[in-house]
Amino acid sequence: MVEDMSCFLYKDILVITSTKKSPMLLRSAVLLFSMVSVIFIFCVCIKQITTDARTKFMESNVIHNLTPGRLKQTHIPNILNYPEPLSFNRNECAPNPVMFFAILSNQRSGSGWFETLLNSHINVSSNGEIFSVKERRQNASSVLQTLDRVYNLDWLSSASKNECSAAVGFKWMLNQGLMDHHKEIEEYFKRRNVSVIFLFRRNLLRRMVSMLANSYDSHAKLLNGTHKSHVHSAEEADILSKYKPFINSTSLLKDLKDMEMKSAKALQYYNSSRHMILHYEDLMRNHTKLKDVQEFLGLPEMELTSRQVKIHKGPLSDHIQNWDDVNKALTGTEYESFLEADY
Ligand SMILES: *[C@@H]1O[C@H](CO)[C@@H](O)[C@H](O)[C@H]1NC(C)=O
Ligand SMILES: *[C@@H]1O[C@H](CO)[C@@H](O)[C@H](O)[C@H]1NC(C)=O
Ligand SMILES: *[C@@H]1O[C@H](CO)[C@@H](O)[C@H](O)[C@H]1NC(C)=O
Ligand SMILES: *[C@@H]1O[C@H](CO)[C@@H](O)[C@H](O)[C@H]1NC(C)=O
Ligand SMILES: *[C@@H]1O[C@H](CO)[C@@H](O)[C@H](O)[C@H]1NC(C)=O
Ligand SMILES: *[C@@H]1O[C@H](CO)[C@@H](O)[C@H](O)[C@H]1NC(C)=O
Ligand SMILES: *[C@@H]1O[C@H](CO)[C@@H](O)[C@H](O)[C@H]1NC(C)=O
Repeated sequence: MVEDMSCFLYKDILVITSTKKSPMLLRSAVLLFSMVSVIFIFCVCIKQITTDARTKFMESNVIHNLTPGRLKQTHIPNILNYPEPLSFNRNECAPNPVMFFAILSNQRSGSGWFETLLNSHINVSSNGEIFSVKERRQNASSVLQTLDRVYNLDWLSSASKNECSAAVGFKWMLNQGLMDHHKEIEEYFKRRNVSVIFLFRRNLLRRMVSMLANSYDSHAKLLNGTHKSHVHSAEEADILSKYKPFINSTSLLKDLKDMEMKSAKALQYYNSSRHMILHYEDLMRNHTKLKDVQEFLGLPEMELTSRQVKIHKGPLSDHIQNWDDVNKALTGTEYESFLEADY
């Protein structure tokens, strides 16, 4: 937007100067014209480079706005899965269809919190990060076997609600085989009617702080010698947030771009599965988003709750050791807003 404006401004100046007739002014007008052309071309180029890279991911806002329409089209009664588990009998709930879902996300994007919210629903079994175990994602066939167990309701975890599950799934990080075996997985999702919930975090700088702090704590174990990735009290959050990570400001722009591109790619790979896109920030701001999720999963609506407490609160400048460098590196770039935004 800003780039467009500046291009127009230069064109207006050109029109004004070239209406005067003196040769001196004419010469300056020609000079100005060539300068403007260069600037104009530069503007256009910059714009193309950045849009190419960014549209996919940032336009997920646009896709998100379309989701209600999409929801109506692919409404729940169309998806009728009646799993027959080997490990137990669905008893009186056997006539109820079960929605299959997978939460596709990245580390430190609120997926743990989101999953506790989902699991507070009496009819949801979200079985955690099952592909954190390497053997399960070694090759496509071990991935699909694991998926079969989950969607046949034979995956037993502390979250399983067994016979009266109306929606069953788990959370899956993009770096846990989802990108390597995307062809087979996408085909499986379609064949078995698996719905996808993308959960992304818009502020990738905050995500970076959270990743670095979590990685530090896995060694430092700040909470009385225990490493915790998620906490349930303000005191624990305070202790964990005391550590301020150092961020490499030289590679920062490239690192942010890489993070962005990876999510954009996942969106591309899985865009033909039935899906919805959620952003962590929107969930934090507006709990009624959870209604959309329940509708998407075809669930009877309930109030969802979580005991988890956010670790890094308040301005980012309080949470980054070399804030000045980071501030300098991002000011004037497309990621400038990450410096300001909450959550
Ligand atoms: C997927 O849903 C369709 C209806 O849209 C249904 O006919 C089909 O049996 C379902 N597939 C499986 C494997 O449950
Ligand atoms: C896939 O990996 C599993 C273990 O994770 C292994 O037992 C199996 O032989 C592998 N299959 C193929 C086709 O490589
Ligand atoms: C949800 O769970 C409750 C209690 O287990 C059960 O009575 C009800 O039928 C379930 N609803 C659906 C839609 O499966
Ligand atoms: C650490 O241990 C002390 C003493 O046992 C206790 O009072 C304190 O609450 C613990 N702190 C945390 C964060 O668990
Ligand atoms: C920061 O990143 C640059 C470029 O990737 C690298 O050369 C440099 O060693 C890094 N600095 C630190 C302190 O890690
Ligand atoms: C999904 O992504 C592919 C590859 O970029 C694209 O060709 C296709 O139009 C996309 N489909 C939808 C439904 O967005
Ligand atoms: C909260 O989310 C709901 C459902 O997506 C939406 O209708 C509502 O306008 C949102 N409210 C605010 C304040 O953003």
